[in-house]
Amino acid sequence: MAKEIKTIGILTSGGDAPGMNAAIRAVVRTALVNGLNVKGIRRGFSGLLEEDIIDMDGRSVSDIIQRGGTVLYTARSKEFMTSEGQDKGAEICRKHGIDGVVVIGGDGSFQGAGKLAARGINTIGLPGTIDLDIACTDYTIGFDTAVNTAMEAIDKVRDTSTSHERCSIIEVMGRNAGYIALWCGIANGAEDILITERYDHNEQHIIDNIIHRKQAGKKHHIIVNAEGIGDSYGMAKRIEAATGIETRATIIGHIQRGGSPTCMDRVYASTMGSIAVDLLCQGATNRVVGYRNGQYVNYDIEEALAMTKDVDQYMYDMAQKLSQ
Ligand code: ADP
Ligand code: F6P
Repeated sequence: MAKEIKTIGILTSGGDAPGMNAAIRAVVRTALVNGLNVKGIRRGFSGLLEEDIIDMDGRSVSDIIQRGGTVLYTARSKEFMTSEGQDKGAEICRKHGIDGVVVIGGDGSFQGAGKLAARGINTIGLPGTIDLDIACTDYTIGFDTAVNTAMEAIDKVRDTSTSHERCSIIEVMGRNAGYIALWCGIANGAEDILITERYDHNEQHIIDNIIHRKQAGKKHHIIVNAEGIGDSYGMAKRIEAATGIETRATIIGHIQRGGSPTCMDRVYASTMGSIAVDLLCQGATNRVVGYRNGQYVNYDIEEALAMTKDVDQYMYDMAQKLSQ
């Protein structure tokens, strides 16, 4: 028989992402509507091990849907990577009467959630990362806001780049994944998009490209460079030396992680938060919620972690054609 859940714990883990607050609000309020108690676990698994646990009610999540970051704070915990740490975490959940936990984070956080599930605490993971690098889902909480922030920043760089007829290399976040770079590359009309999934490190090809586009009348050359490739400043120096065209590098950085979430992030995060509580009420555990092919789905954590995905080849090829 499915375990009856009376008290839900909620935590955010790994890098923060805009929309996490909307998900927290949805978890808290859906749980309360279902007659459950809710405890906020602050600072991710690290806070769990430190028993940094607070009672939450409807007012605890007032006025947060529009705010970036996470009101529960977030952290990375080395101790929770050990089986002793995981035993201690499950024991602390029991001590506080927490029978179900919603974990909002990326793949690393889902591994942590799986360890709690294996120790008898029902867990549901929600995909929270600006990087979009979670294989079981087409959508992650925060990506839409981050990619819009990066797009607006690149538009600004483009203005000055055109005025000075320069080449600009703009580095966006994404850890080893190129989704932010690819989406911005298309949205900003970049001449080149460098992503780990496709870049062959042939810098001469980029240099030739810059020269040809200049001859064809282009007034700027925008290169969107993914964090996983990096070296934007070094690349700018080498390109300027080889082409004779003034070249500047801009690293957008953590600006991409903050700010008020877009409508899409608020709505999807709210829906996923609500689904997580529904799943816990149905007795589900060790599941990750995703959004795939236009539908909300959920998968066993191990199954989700074993999945792989790649950037869309059509989008990548199209970006190259549209930048002629
Ligand atoms: P993300 O969740 O964004 O992928 P991390 O990979 O930094 O971010 O993971 C966040 C936290 O999840 C880690 O600091 C750790 O507490 C926990 N975690 C990651 N991997 C594991 C694991 N294999 N076992 C248990 N906990 C893990
Ligand atoms: O995973 C989100 C992310 O912003 C990545 O894009 C980036 O590589 C990393 O986190 C940066 O982490 P930190 O905030 O620890 O510098």
